[in-house]
Amino acid sequence: MKMNTQADRIKVQEYAAPYDLVSYLNEYHRSIAAPDEFWVEQSRLLDWKSPFSKVRNVDFGTQGVTIRWFEDGVLNACVNCVDRHLGQRGNQTAILWESDEPGVTEKITYSELHASVCRLANGLRALGIRKGDCVAIYLPMIPEVAIAMLACARIGAIHSVVFAGFSADALAGRVRDCGARLVITADASVRAGKRIPLKSNVDEALRSCPLVEKCIVVARTSADVDWDAERDVRYVELVDAQSRECEPEWMNAEDPLFVLYTSGSTGTPKGVLHTTAGYLLSCALSHRHVFDLREDDIYWCSADVGWITGHSYIVYGPLANGATTLMFEGVPTYPSPSRFWEICDRHGVTIFYTAPTAIRALMREGDDHVRSTDRSSLRVLGSVGEPINPEAWRWYFEIVGDGRCPVVDTWWQTETGTIMIAPIPGVTPLKPGSATFPLFGVEPVLVNNSGDEIEGAGEGLLCLKQAGPGIMRTIYGDPKRFFKTYFGRIPGLYFTGDGCRRDEDGYYWITGRIDDVINVSGHRLGTAEIESALVAHPAVAEAAVVGYPHETKGQGIHAFITVKAGIEETEKLLGELRLSVRRQIGPIAQPDVIQWAASLPKTRSGKIMRRVLRKLAEGQTNDLGDMSTLAEPGVVATLAKSTQARG
Ligand code: PRX
Repeated sequence: MKMNTQADRIKVQEYAAPYDLVSYLNEYHRSIAAPDEFWVEQSRLLDWKSPFSKVRNVDFGTQGVTIRWFEDGVLNACVNCVDRHLGQRGNQTAILWESDEPGVTEKITYSELHASVCRLANGLRALGIRKGDCVAIYLPMIPEVAIAMLACARIGAIHSVVFAGFSADALAGRVRDCGARLVITADASVRAGKRIPLKSNVDEALRSCPLVEKCIVVARTSADVDWDAERDVRYVELVDAQSRECEPEWMNAEDPLFVLYTSGSTGTPKGVLHTTAGYLLSCALSHRHVFDLREDDIYWCSADVGWITGHSYIVYGPLANGATTLMFEGVPTYPSPSRFWEICDRHGVTIFYTAPTAIRALMREGDDHVRSTDRSSLRVLGSVGEPINPEAWRWYFEIVGDGRCPVVDTWWQTETGTIMIAPIPGVTPLKPGSATFPLFGVEPVLVNNSGDEIEGAGEGLLCLKQAGPGIMRTIYGDPKRFFKTYFGRIPGLYFTGDGCRRDEDGYYWITGRIDDVINVSGHRLGTAEIESALVAHPAVAEAAVVGYPHETKGQGIHAFITVKAGIEETEKLLGELRLSVRRQIGPIAQPDVIQWAASLPKTRSGKIMRRVLRKLAEGQTNDLGDMSTLAEPGVVATLAKSTQARG
């Protein structure tokens, strides 16, 4: 392995860098100092129906926020992801699908993708969907999910993809919030050899969604499903009847492209709204640079399309760049923990992008599962979704990448739409565990608790002074909450909710959320949502949920439960509580630990002291910090005792 470790910095010498660090930094500084000039140049990455005359209209104001980019430009996202590649890349694979069953694959060329998207787009129009209507997509990891997103984009419908692991209740809440008129789903999903019903969840959800008129059903398996002849439409029958050509709807740059729900520290999940041109341009630019995209790359992002990573880096980024994007239906450990690397070998994957939780889980299975595979096609490895601990980083670099492949740790959020802080392969010297430097157009700042900016090395709240064109525009239907959540805390800055350290070399190290959002296996959850699912059970008087460090998941979920007077704390009740969370949110939100609490530690004003609960959940029972505001000191002692008893 040829590697130059300068102090703590790793540079893979044999990697042919696309440009050098000085050029990158010069270009970066120009993007910050002269954003209009920089983004006009970059806008050529997209095809425009009619050009824009205004570049940027952005004000992170103290009274209100304006974020508008290229605001008089006209284009279509689907045309940019599909049609414009037909000339040169019609026969190139656009989507390379590997099913749950090893080796069962499907290759969809750009021409085939075009025909499939047009057919569905025509089908949607035939069902009455028009520009500005919202379509909910509740599909597993099958090509139809990308086809559905692109078909919506083609006709100007706003898609709202709901992760197929969410429950009927969670789906219903999202469908109602975005006012969807149509849902696209499948009979079932297939994971690790098991069939998981989806259509039945939709049937249940739609009982409380009166606006939904139609439901399109993809037949992933031959499962029997209930059928509402008035409402349900078979995907195959719908698209077979349609033409392979479909005139796109020409969209204003700031017309909505999609809504994607994500958890916040309070209340119900927020519908993050992204618009057309700025988002797509930012996807294309970041995908190109952060993965050093080259002709003939086979690019694979293992995320689920139900999350922002899937939107930006399975669908929009790679397709806007005319790349081949691999989509995997299954799980990393089925039929064995070699699955990821077998897929890399089978398809000659050159760029692989996954989450630390998967890396840690596979690391635990031992090196043999990796070493038994070839992986020589790999060139770049990416990480996303949560802080990657240096041990996992090194394993990924040394064992998976054989010390040849730069690891790009990418920090960003559903709200930022695209990658904000990340290295460039071969260009940025790496430090394991650091996302390194900001990307073009992104100006991070660290502030202390009083809102003062920290210069140079230090640790504080991560905010953005500039975020480029891909950032969210609002919370769907709730602009006040948008302003309050992201701009109300530190005047003039976008507040990310993350803590961060900047070292003496200017490297950024994300330390994790500083609010009540937890990150479980890369899935973002609000503790408030889980608490509300728990208190919905009639036996529960009060619930408090906190995250705690978990070896593979990053964070685990620890719930403290106070039962109502006269209720017994039984195993049966524990089972019911877990089920309650599964029903209302989904299996990902099920607590790892449920601890009974005679009462919860509160301040005199009645606020639960989560800081104390977090320490208890970590297993720490003394040194619990300042207790001077605690209303009843005895409560903590009792809880600490029961924590100790649990071991
Ligand atoms: O806490 C940060 C963490 O994930 C949060 C965003 O979650 P979500 O909106 O679901 O998007 C995940 C995919 C982009 C952030 O606020 N996070 C994401 N990437 C990293 C990270 N934390 C540390 N390092 C990262 N690379």
